[in-house]
Amino acid sequence: MADLSIDFVGMHFPNPLMLASAPPTRTAEMIKRAFDAGWGGAVTKSIALNPAEDLQPRLQPLRHRKRNIGMENVELTTQLTVEDWQREIADVKAVYPDRPLWASIMDEPVEENWQRLAEAMQEAGADALELNVSCPHGMPSKGMGAFIGQNAELTGQVVSWVKKVSKVPVVVKLTPNVTDISFVAQAAKDNGADALCTINTVLGLIGVDLDTLTPVPSVGGVSTYGGYSGPGIKPIALSCVAQIAKATGLPVSGLGGLNTWQDVVEFMAVGASTVQVCTAVMWKGYRIIEKLLPGLEKYLDSKGFTHLNPIIGAALPKIVEFPQMPLAPRARASVDDTCNGCLLCVTACSDGGFQAITGLKGEIVTIDGDKCDGCGLCAMVCPLDSITMVPR
Ligand SMILES: Cc1cc2nc3c(=O)[nH]c(=O)nc-3n(C[C@H](O)[C@H](O)[C@H](O)COP(=O)(O)O)c2cc1C
Repeated sequence: MADLSIDFVGMHFPNPLMLASAPPTRTAEMIKRAFDAGWGGAVTKSIALNPAEDLQPRLQPLRHRKRNIGMENVELTTQLTVEDWQREIADVKAVYPDRPLWASIMDEPVEENWQRLAEAMQEAGADALELNVSCPHGMPSKGMGAFIGQNAELTGQVVSWVKKVSKVPVVVKLTPNVTDISFVAQAAKDNGADALCTINTVLGLIGVDLDTLTPVPSVGGVSTYGGYSGPGIKPIALSCVAQIAKATGLPVSGLGGLNTWQDVVEFMAVGASTVQVCTAVMWKGYRIIEKLLPGLEKYLDSKGFTHLNPIIGAALPKIVEFPQMPLAPRARASVDDTCNGCLLCVTACSDGGFQAITGLKGEIVTIDGDKCDGCGLCAMVCPLDSITMVPR
């Protein structure tokens, strides 16, 4: 069996799967249960000098055919005090001394505040400090979270303040809600960040109730922009992880929409050496680890890899700027005999493509190779995967 352990800025993880800073790491009791279940590490719920008073309700799903496919939250920091968290961290470390536990800290851009939080958490036994400069809602109006992370200079300043007092690695959690994440990542690196983490949630407005025309989640009849998470944000997360890994070369902890062992491999291939999970655990519990780890192990075995290192960053050299993309080889659509003639591709190609799929020959659609522009739309809408793109 492949070895899933990994080293990340001097910390040894039994496996790369961490719980993200979020409700699943609200207390020591919860973190210990997650470690019992097999999670490789955890980041505490974000800790500020003043505990938050949260809105109720503060979670809203995005549903498709009655299934949750995304979630918005307007949750703030932990409701526990700094002293509470010192006890919680010490409690976890007493039971799990070797399992990396990072303290997520956040506050206003005031040197003394960040240093007080950093010192308190490392004294309590945190193995690393994760600087939350990325929460997109609630906190920015107080000069916290994304208010800092959307400003490269301020991000660098906060990192340098923490680095003055830190004795453990400093990981900076970046927001995707910026024009160029690699610019902010570079500022964090220039000021001494040991590692980076991304993404925090994507700023969103998840919907409007059609009966009342009130945006949701409605709290007393009004709502606000919140943090969107879950499977839909994975492409944004993968691109952010790849961009900061390429730009800085720093170790990256990647997250955003991670749900399956295949997702773990993808995050690692674009440069993450540990990964984190929030929404999937909130929806399905800590025990999803029982599927993630064996899946990852089997994948490595099937590839003949004895450990994770060969996959970390393996896809990065193949991510190029658009002008470097090749115009050849050209492709066209090809259909096989599993086609049942449902005609979904005919409609898609007619109204969203090049009118290259015209009708049926027997049960199977016919594709006009001269008209087909090789865009790939038909393969996307085919429910039976009967259409593939082949070299022209
Ligand atoms: C309800 C909720 C609360 C969260 N609280 C925090 C937090 O306190 N600190 C933080 O850095 N990120 C927080 N996050 C963001 C997650 O850590 C994570 O970055 C984001 O949800 C994307 O990952 P996912 O798609 O696996 O959920 C929170 C997310 C949710 C859904």
